Amino acid sequence: MKSPRESWTSRIAFILAAAGSAVGLGNIWRFPYVVGTNGGAAFVLIFLVIVLIIGYPLMVTEITLGRETNKNPIGTFKALAPDMPWWLIGAMGVLAGFVILSFYSVVSGWGIAYFFKTLDGSLASGADYEGVFFDHVESPIAPLVWHFIFMTMTVAIVGLGIVKGIGRAVKYLMPVLFILIVFLVIRGVTLSGASEGLAFYLSPDFSQITWRSWLDAAGQAFFSLSLGMGAIITYGSYLGKKDDVPSSAGWIVGLDVFIALLAGLAIFPAVFALGFAETEGPGLAFITLPAVFAEMPFGMFFGGVFFLFFSVAALTSALSLLEVVVSWLVDEKAMSRKKATIYVGLGIFILGIPASLSMGAVSLNVFGMSFFNFLDFLQETILLPVGGLLTIIFAGYVFKANRLRESANENATLFSLGKWFEYLIKYVTPVALIIILIVGFLL
Ligand code: PHE
Repeated sequence: MKSPRESWTSRIAFILAAAGSAVGLGNIWRFPYVVGTNGGAAFVLIFLVIVLIIGYPLMVTEITLGRETNKNPIGTFKALAPDMPWWLIGAMGVLAGFVILSFYSVVSGWGIAYFFKTLDGSLASGADYEGVFFDHVESPIAPLVWHFIFMTMTVAIVGLGIVKGIGRAVKYLMPVLFILIVFLVIRGVTLSGASEGLAFYLSPDFSQITWRSWLDAAGQAFFSLSLGMGAIITYGSYLGKKDDVPSSAGWIVGLDVFIALLAGLAIFPAVFALGFAETEGPGLAFITLPAVFAEMPFGMFFGGVFFLFFSVAALTSALSLLEVVVSWLVDEKAMSRKKATIYVGLGIFILGIPASLSMGAVSLNVFGMSFFNFLDFLQETILLPVGGLLTIIFAGYVFKANRLRESANENATLFSLGKWFEYLIKYVTPVALIIILIVGFLL
């Protein structure tokens, strides 16, 4: 017999889980290098604008739709628009969960490997940091072993369910995360020579901004906030009608942005203080930072703390990616949670193998990109922004903006959404997204 659907034990449990989903590699690994390669503070401002006009409204929308139906993303759209193909948005989300987690787990595995490399001295002062990084990611076996270990942890937690698995894990892991980041920020800003990095990060120079920056900022916002692919619909579906939406969404968005900003604050002063390039790109966390740590007092300790932070944040995000796919199999295909988790986990592990190998062990190209970059490109430029755009159009015009606002306001605690919210999701958010997508691609 099918057991009844679970729900979060408290509002805080939901906020921690959703913030855990949002705060991840997007904040720690991606945000600093995207800021670094886009000219610094001015890009940070653009990102904040996007978060306000696209991120927050979509966060409210996804939570509300999930809470409305208590179903996985595919089931949610099916329940709300039975005879129409809107469920395809949910299907895209399930696909995105599968795709993102496959390479996300590979990168998370690098993080765990680097935690141990920091401790065993492979990254001590004078090491060849680039060499260590490329040796690791290009080797055929080691990254796959860590990928497997990371997926096993994710499967073990998701397999235990919403209350005993995800809810319990985030209750312990999220506070650890906050403590670790505060530690790193204090270390970063108190380095002598930190001020140049702070200036780069905090004083805007708009000459660096192009149309492309807006697209990058939007892609970053979707990824970082876990939006556009049903992860938040899924977490929202384990809420009851008595739970608040408007201020919970505010907490989740606020925490995610706050941690991304703090990650920049931990990283840029250190990079500048020690004379490294802020434009390093995806290698920033793995090549520049170990070098930075090695030159700092107690650097190995802080390096270990950083990669521990990295891995924990990745884990709480991976839980939500896996849960999207699992919830669909459990709700719609009546599979047991244990079975669904193991099968999906195994499938994702397998898709991650070519992703990892395409970093250099074998040559594996799709449309001229390595398989790894292809998966990242697919989610960043197509799956998430298009999924987000369709979700907001669905909410504004099919579900209807006034009904969404009323539903979101039901049992709101701190504040309710005014009429402005309807204009936002009907006009401002979709139009902004369409412009950014079109212009970003053309220019
Ligand atoms: N938000 C996560 C991060 O920043 C990644 C993620 C994307 C998780 C989409 C779930 C859904 O790392």
